[in-house]
Amino acid sequence: METGSRRAVRVFPSREAQARGAAEVFAETLMAAVAISGRAAVALAGGTTPRAAYEALARPPWPDRVPWAALDVFFGDERWVHGGDPRSNVRMVREALLDHVPVDPARVHAPRIGAGDLAAIAEEYAARIAAHVPRGPSGWPRFDLVLLGMGADGHTASLFSGDPALEENQAAVAPVHRSPDGLPRVTLTLPVLNAAAGVIFIVAGSEKAEAAYRVLELEEPLPAGRVRPAGGSVWFLDASAARRLKRSE
Ligand code: 6PG
Repeated sequence: METGSRRAVRVFPSREAQARGAAEVFAETLMAAVAISGRAAVALAGGTTPRAAYEALARPPWPDRVPWAALDVFFGDERWVHGGDPRSNVRMVREALLDHVPVDPARVHAPRIGAGDLAAIAEEYAARIAAHVPRGPSGWPRFDLVLLGMGADGHTASLFSGDPALEENQAAVAPVHRSPDGLPRVTLTLPVLNAAAGVIFIVAGSEKAEAAYRVLELEEPLPAGRVRPAGGSVWFLDASAARRLKRSE
């Protein structure tokens, strides 16, 4: 794992400002990638925090500033629930964003929850990533952009401390048989997250302040702290999540 990769921190006074800032970087990063390659691949975060950024991206002027027709869209993780369940990350992202923008539905790639056991679903999802996301120099599929959140315990995607998925180093997608909320999940793994050209963390709320401090100031190897892509990462924090940080850029 690349440990010397650049980690920038941006602190926003409000969640609205944070969402706008994330929308702007999302659009710029993917426009730049498509300008070079004619296409780009992005993995989107679940949870509740990125919803505001997705809703911002669904409103003018952003749909015209994101090259939706040239994007392959993936999801960083999904829970073992049916597609209509309010806990489904895919449902949240569709409702907040994908249903409102000119993405090619054939290029929206979700884990096929329900189609076989968890290991088979993870394997099939990894195969689809390999088919649609070009390999980078490390040999792993290289997403142009990955959005991630972080839990108050420092987990990211569905990579939880103590779970074997966190140590997976052969596969791009791992099954998570038990998560703190009791739901099995599938998740992208550290090697593929660390192969990304860019990673944006979107973290908000005072309940995340301790974990943000432990990752960003103390550099503790919590799951989110182990995401150190060679291309660098940017942490978008609201003021509450950043309140324990001494300095910010
Ligand atoms: C999930 C996630 C997860 C999430 C964090 C933060 O499906 O749970 O992808 O890693 O980003 O748990 O979640 P909140 O934004 O809801 O606090």
